[in-house]
Amino acid sequence: MTEQRIVLVTGAGSGIGRATAERFAREGWRVVAIGRRAGKLAETAAALTAAGGLCETAPLDVAEPGAMAELATRVAAEHGRIDALVANAGIAYAREAALETTDEDWNETLRINLTGVHRSCTAVLPHMIARGAGAIVTVASIAGQVGMARRGSYGPSKAGVIGYTRNLAIDYAPHGIRANAVCPGFIETDINRASLAALPREEYAALVAKHPLGLGRPEDAAAAIFFLCSDDARWITGVDLSVDGGFTAW
Ligand SMILES: NC(=O)c1ccc[n+]([C@@H]2O[C@H](COP(=O)([O-])OP(=O)(O)OC[C@H]3O[C@@H](n4cnc5c(N)ncnc54)[C@H](OP(=O)(O)O)[C@@H]3O)[C@@H](O)[C@H]2O)c1
Repeated sequence: MTEQRIVLVTGAGSGIGRATAERFAREGWRVVAIGRRAGKLAETAAALTAAGGLCETAPLDVAEPGAMAELATRVAAEHGRIDALVANAGIAYAREAALETTDEDWNETLRINLTGVHRSCTAVLPHMIARGAGAIVTVASIAGQVGMARRGSYGPSKAGVIGYTRNLAIDYAPHGIRANAVCPGFIETDINRASLAALPREEYAALVAKHPLGLGRPEDAAAAIFFLCSDDARWITGVDLSVDGGFTAW
């Protein structure tokens, strides 16, 4: 069995997922970096290799039936362990209210953001149950904790992730498995760079001002994710942790 701990990180090719993968590598873990674009994963892999923490890259769609399960089975067979999963992959297609949300947007957002999390978690659970230990962190959003304008599909998908994670925490605690959701506030990444840039200056300023500590960085979310996967969080399960510079404190 591999001695180093192994974590699967979805959406590891950019943003919060890449920062998370790098954080785990720096902490001595080996990382399976997952995402659809091989080119972006290769960039992450270079950083992980430098830190001595690359396990492998896995270009796949987390919502595709069987894709995550096949990967997890292979990783568990090769290395004898899967210590943690960070179910971070997500999309935010459109910023629309319910009436403007198309079926295509609704279905694809739910498919990736919620079904993708479900498939990722059910892929690793049997292997964690077999070892009687494991930590899962899902990446939801403040948009799943509080109401927000024009989040017709994204908000419900993230609220679903929080509810899903609570249920995991209850059902799998007897197997030594913890499950928590991290809910970031606004962090400028690929997912929102264009929509943030398109905001009128006053709206952007108001959004920043809603975060008493200002906008965050991918590393801020990564720190919370790492903590929740670490032994320091051994008595924490079923929480949705806002990592939002105070956005939800108002
Ligand atoms: N940035 C924020 O302000 C913020 C706030 C709250 C929550 N979040 C959440 O944080 C998570 C990470 O987002 P980010 O901000 O880091 O944006 P990002 O840079 O766009 O990262 C999203 C990652 O998910 C991957 N991905 C998307 N669909 C996938 C699929 N079907 N299968 C596998 N990988 C997939 C993308 O890579 P590929 O396209 O190559 O697959 C990408 O690397 C998301 O769940 C997002 O909703 C972000």
